[in-house]
Amino acid sequence: MAEFTNLLLESSDGIMTITINRESKLNALNVGTIAELETAFQQVMDDNTIKGVILTGAGEKAFVAGADIGEFSALEEMHARKFSEEGQEVFRMIEECHTPVIAVVNGFALGGGCELAMACHMRIATESAKFGQPEVNLGVIPGYGGTQRLTQLIGKGRALEYMMTTEMMGAKRACDLGLVNHVEPDKAAAIQKATKLLTTIGQKAPIAIGLVVDCVNSVATPDDGYQMEANAFARCCGTNDFKEGVDAFMNKRQADFKGE
Ligand code: COA
Repeated sequence: MAEFTNLLLESSDGIMTITINRESKLNALNVGTIAELETAFQQVMDDNTIKGVILTGAGEKAFVAGADIGEFSALEEMHARKFSEEGQEVFRMIEECHTPVIAVVNGFALGGGCELAMACHMRIATESAKFGQPEVNLGVIPGYGGTQRLTQLIGKGRALEYMMTTEMMGAKRACDLGLVNHVEPDKAAAIQKATKLLTTIGQKAPIAIGLVVDCVNSVATPDDGYQMEANAFARCCGTNDFKEGVDAFMNKRQADFKGE
């Protein structure tokens, strides 16, 4: 069994709960957490006693508040493409997993957090959950598949609006738009709902469930959309606006972008 620093793994009655456990950083995804997610999902795929996965964030405030902005300052254009591609690969692994995966979104799901929730097969939100893609505030774009999956889930016009304005979406609105499957009053109720769904699915034919995942995923945009996203993410990381956006966030001030 692998050891985890940033995740908690608990199994009960064939359901694995994976909790992202960096509460003091609002569960922001650093590179270590992404690598641990890959290991955890490999473990899920290798273990046919696991019938379903619940993915959630520690605490009450956040599911995941994005990629770890502290690590962004070191990103240069060349490494940024790899950073994006590696994250995309782990998220694709979640999306393609034949074991059903439900995100229980218990607060902020921003940037990479919203992207991670969207890579899961379904999303159950608490009433206080908030979704958003605030990357352009940092002079960058979503780089873990968000430009593709948000468009698939809520449609082009709305996806453009949310990505361009960075406006956050509440749980009810997210449910109305199809980003979220169900809204529950709190985290305990959301976990209960996810457990009930996974228990129902766990009684169905596993091979058929896995093939439903494959066929539904085949509707999505072809791979070159993701490659274009990784290239565009990398290009943003070579700009002065990106340096300005990250510095402004770290120093808790308004960014002053120059378009260069
Ligand atoms: N990366 C790294 N650290 C993050 C983070 C992220 N994405 N999001 C939050 N944190 C850290 C904050 O820096 C802060 O750390 P500190 O206590 O050492 O200063 C801590 O988590 C708590 O966040 P804080 O901003 O103080 O909480 P808040 O309630 O005032 O605001 C948010 C909550 C989610 C609105 C705000 O944290 C935020 O805008 N986060 C960034 C979201 C984002 O842009 N994500 C996309 C990244 S690509």
